[in-house]
Amino acid sequence: MFGIELKNVGKRFGANEVLRDIDLSIPKGSFTAIVGKSGCGKSTLLRVIAGLEEVTSGSLAYTGAEAKKSNIRIMFQDDRLLPWKNILKNIAIGGVNKVDAEIALEKVGLRDKKGDWPDELSGGQKQRVALARALASSPDVLLFDEPLGALDALTRMDMQHLMEGLWQEQHFTSILVTHDVSEAVYLADRVIVLDEGGVKLDQEIDLGRPRERDDKFTSYEKKILDQIVGG
Ligand SMILES: Nc1ncnc2c1ncn2[C@@H]1O[C@H](COP(=O)(O)OP(=O)(O)OP(=O)(O)O)[C@@H](O)[C@H]1O
Ligand SMILES: [Mg+2]
Repeated sequence: MFGIELKNVGKRFGANEVLRDIDLSIPKGSFTAIVGKSGCGKSTLLRVIAGLEEVTSGSLAYTGAEAKKSNIRIMFQDDRLLPWKNILKNIAIGGVNKVDAEIALEKVGLRDKKGDWPDELSGGQKQRVALARALASSPDVLLFDEPLGALDALTRMDMQHLMEGLWQEQHFTSILVTHDVSEAVYLADRVIVLDEGGVKLDQEIDLGRPRERDDKFTSYEKKILDQIVGG
């Protein structure tokens, strides 16, 4: 497992300054959520962290003895499964063997679907497979770009429980981009509000697990939401 250190990071595309002055230290094994208005730079920040985009100023470093870019995985809103491969073969790619693929499938509760085609699964099941694929290589860092955005409320809650359980079990460093403030407070120990490419709020979430949606939970939600919508 390793952490991530961003120092004064800026990213521009031409004249468009998308990220500015980002100073963030993300400890290994922590769970961070990133929220903010559409277009504020959340996905760009994830791509920078994953090493898929070069920074235009400042620096990005991975902190830990065996830190390397190849141990970072990203999971997206669309499942990105290959329609011509069955479920097991969708997971057993990129150096992952079938035994590890099956273990990962078991963890997301879909072992009995291993011979099915992606088209035969529901949207929620496909996202579980995508999660299994991300887990199968035992990543040190797992980045989520709105992975649950297309799911209905109940399936979403199931997935949130699953993600929390797997994170607690495997201790990967987790960074979740979401539009759902409640999901951010439910899953993360720290919520970052991005606004026009800068950090507007860096809020620690001091709640036990599993989380209850009590008054303290609601007050965190309100504080974060106010920062997102307020001027
Ligand atoms: N490859 C690129 N080339 C040029 N501009 C880009 C590129 N990627 C992102 N941008 C710009 O960066 C800005 C931030 O985009 P980004 O996708 O990071 O936002 P976001 O916060 O993830 O939004 P959303 O919530 O809608 O997903 C936008 O203005 C976008 O047009
Ligand atoms: Mg995005």
